[in-house]
Amino acid sequence: MKSLIVLSLLIYSIATQENCRFAFEYTQKELQSDPKKVQEFLSKVMKWESKFAKDLGIDKKSGLTLDGQQLDVNTGMPNGKPHQFTASSKESIHLALIGLALANNEYAKQIYSEEEALDLLNRKINTYEQFDKDYPGYGGFLPWVAVNDGVVTPTWDWTDGVPSLDNGQLFWAAYAVVSVLETWYSDQDELIGRYTRFYQKMANNSITIFYEGNGMIRAVTRIQDIKASVEKNQYSNRQSDCTNFKSPCYLDDPYEGELFAWMMYFYAPWKDQTEREKIWVAKKSKLQVVDYKVAGLNKYISVQRGWWFSAHEQWKYLFMPYTHDQIQLNLLINGEKVRTWDARNNGKPGMFASITSNITKNEDQVDYYSACGIEEVSYIPVTYRHLVTPYSTMTMFLANQEVAVSWYHNMISGPAGQNAYGSTEGVVVDGTSVAPFVTWDSKMTTVLGMLGGIFDYTAKKLNVEGNYNLFLKVLNREWQQSFSNLKGADVPFAYPNATFPQVKKDFTTCARKTDVVEQ
Ligand SMILES: *[C@@H]1O[C@H](CO)[C@@H](O)[C@H](O)[C@H]1NC(C)=O
Ligand SMILES: *[C@@H]1O[C@H](CO)[C@@H](O)[C@H](O)[C@H]1NC(C)=O
Ligand SMILES: *[C@@H]1O[C@H](CO)[C@@H](O)[C@H](O)[C@H]1NC(C)=O
Repeated sequence: MKSLIVLSLLIYSIATQENCRFAFEYTQKELQSDPKKVQEFLSKVMKWESKFAKDLGIDKKSGLTLDGQQLDVNTGMPNGKPHQFTASSKESIHLALIGLALANNEYAKQIYSEEEALDLLNRKINTYEQFDKDYPGYGGFLPWVAVNDGVVTPTWDWTDGVPSLDNGQLFWAAYAVVSVLETWYSDQDELIGRYTRFYQKMANNSITIFYEGNGMIRAVTRIQDIKASVEKNQYSNRQSDCTNFKSPCYLDDPYEGELFAWMMYFYAPWKDQTEREKIWVAKKSKLQVVDYKVAGLNKYISVQRGWWFSAHEQWKYLFMPYTHDQIQLNLLINGEKVRTWDARNNGKPGMFASITSNITKNEDQVDYYSACGIEEVSYIPVTYRHLVTPYSTMTMFLANQEVAVSWYHNMISGPAGQNAYGSTEGVVVDGTSVAPFVTWDSKMTTVLGMLGGIFDYTAKKLNVEGNYNLFLKVLNREWQQSFSNLKGADVPFAYPNATFPQVKKDFTTCARKTDVVEQ
């Protein structure tokens, strides 16, 4: 009787393809040689990742994202409530997915129907506008916010401040969504108008709120009174963050923080046109080329030095058309090549990005491991090299889909690497434990990479507004000096050749199917 039930469950799951542990339906060889298999595999990724995006990672009333959810270390089912908070960064990913669904993107439309996408856009803009009314001191920017059944308030640690980096991400997401709407839904003039005012307001207030002068943009601004209007407010650098973030007080990085700089460069209300050029002067010192030596091959690959060289730093490639410029495209490809060789030559089954920590018991203290990456090509020391994450492939999907799929597949094949909500946050390379979480950062960033990013829509609108050529011109001006002779064009990508020891058991709600048969 029992085996009959197991058997019929098995048949049912095959018939309906309800197998959340689908990694084992594919081999590395298939994914490296058969584009049809890749397509089928990615469709399954969409299906299971969307369960996170649509069931767990969303506050349905406000339409806002919820940062993530802890999973039970054994069952893989939600342990406690989802994180009742989010930030502009998660919102940027969500907006981009919605935008691409409306743009008829092959994979995005498997997540959201047209009706769902438009409904979410309406809910979100209602919420953004309400938040702006309630807390005018933020000037249209969004801090980390608590989200409780439709009610959105600043989190306790952001009642006097607002970060620039995440808002640069949100700005370009809203901008790209407007571009999509203008292209495919020009009859939605109300939505177009509201999202346009939303992103314009950020740009219009960016100097008042974030600009320190002399090309310096604050990483975090202190707001005197979040309830008072921008005009009646006072803004200054929030000093405590300079040490907290172990990063400078100013947003001078050539990574994801650059999205905010571009917003200001193009759309801030500069009185003096020479002032805005100082942003690029302030950023110059962090633009460094570094040659990574590929052990065994005795060859070099030139990359742009990273902070930790965490894949998280690559966020900007998803939102702006960097890859339309040849130097930037070469840099992206080279960086991703280095990620693959670093893993391969060090016997790692996957790669690195800033991530929630691994735990063994549900009660274990949870940390956030920022310092994950590759020290040979980073500015500051890398601390964690035991925990790999599927989202380390997020922009590898822009560089080379086949290679990215291989690594992604290799990582989710690790013990408990998949759950009923798609990929698991991270897997320890010795196979003993995982980071039992599902978050926007570790999952939907990668999905956006698989979708190809939304930067083509950004490019389209920049072009209409006459800023596209300027974008390319500035990129060329700033990067060509150090980056025009990159080594490594002759070095291929590396494919994974290491697997995880299967020490930890799969989650009971998402176990490898052969285990069921054997029982
Ligand atoms: C932003 O500033 C521009 C230029 O002054 C203006 O046309 C636009 O209406 C402003 N938008 C918002 C939302 O304040
Ligand atoms: C994987 O490849 C690297 C270098 O390409 C090699 O040093 C290593 O021995 C290989 N590992 C396995 C398990 O084959
Ligand atoms: C995370 O994994 C490492 C490597 O296996 C291990 O030493 C550490 O104890 C794990 N952390 C927790 C909290 O279980």
